[in-house]
Amino acid sequence: MPRGLFITFEGLDGSGKTTQIKRLAEWLTKRGHLPVVTRQPGGTNTGDRIRALVLDSRSTGLAPMTEMALMFADRAQAISEVIQPALDAGKIVLCDRFTDSTEAYQGGGRQLGSQVVLDLHRLICGNLQPDLTLLLLPPLERNLARARSRNQRVAARTGCDEGRFEAEHDAFHHRVADKYKQIAAREPARVVLIEGDLTIEEVHERIAAAVSARLSRGGSGVPVPNAQSTP
Ligand code: TYD
Repeated sequence: MPRGLFITFEGLDGSGKTTQIKRLAEWLTKRGHLPVVTRQPGGTNTGDRIRALVLDSRSTGLAPMTEMALMFADRAQAISEVIQPALDAGKIVLCDRFTDSTEAYQGGGRQLGSQVVLDLHRLICGNLQPDLTLLLLPPLERNLARARSRNQRVAARTGCDEGRFEAEHDAFHHRVADKYKQIAAREPARVVLIEGDLTIEEVHERIAAAVSARLSRGGSGVPVPNAQSTP
């Protein structure tokens, strides 16, 4: 069976990825596709434990290489358990973050550089590449304020603290955003950059247009959406 379609979402914390993934999953479902939705870090039992370790503000003193190795350990498990089996079954996979996050956060933010991330990706992930990456970059200040207040709300409600990255200083997030822009410039055929102060609806429309174009190009195991589809 031909391979399915692998779509990843990228962006800074608070960029609205979660809302947009949900909207795209609904949009695809209306068109007769049943996407597999997953996230990194997390998405498997082992991955959820790695997620708890790596995102918790109490994980102090984690060396950048340790952080990167944990992200790749999580990813290797997700590919083996979730992503590759779904693609082999011809499904559409929507993944909240993938190796571009490691390149942006550890390569850019932590200043490990791109090369080590790309080399590890080739070794550990068998160089599995997304067919399409939707990169959301709303204005940085709006992003961070949203991400920080969301984490405080979640921590107050669940006692589960995932704020280690949001607690980083602004220069870190600027480096992450710059690295994301470099990736988009390097790989324009794969990465669709959606930036600026847009409404949820406007972002969704751009995502739907990009996915529609990718689906109608074919070349994967995913059937072309049927004609009676609704917006
Ligand atoms: P998550 O809650 O998924 O992000 P968001 O706030 O966008 O919903 O948190 C994941 C965090 O982990 C996020 O701050 C980015 C970071 N991260 C890395 O630093 N490297 C990686 O490879 C991945 C996948 C995530």
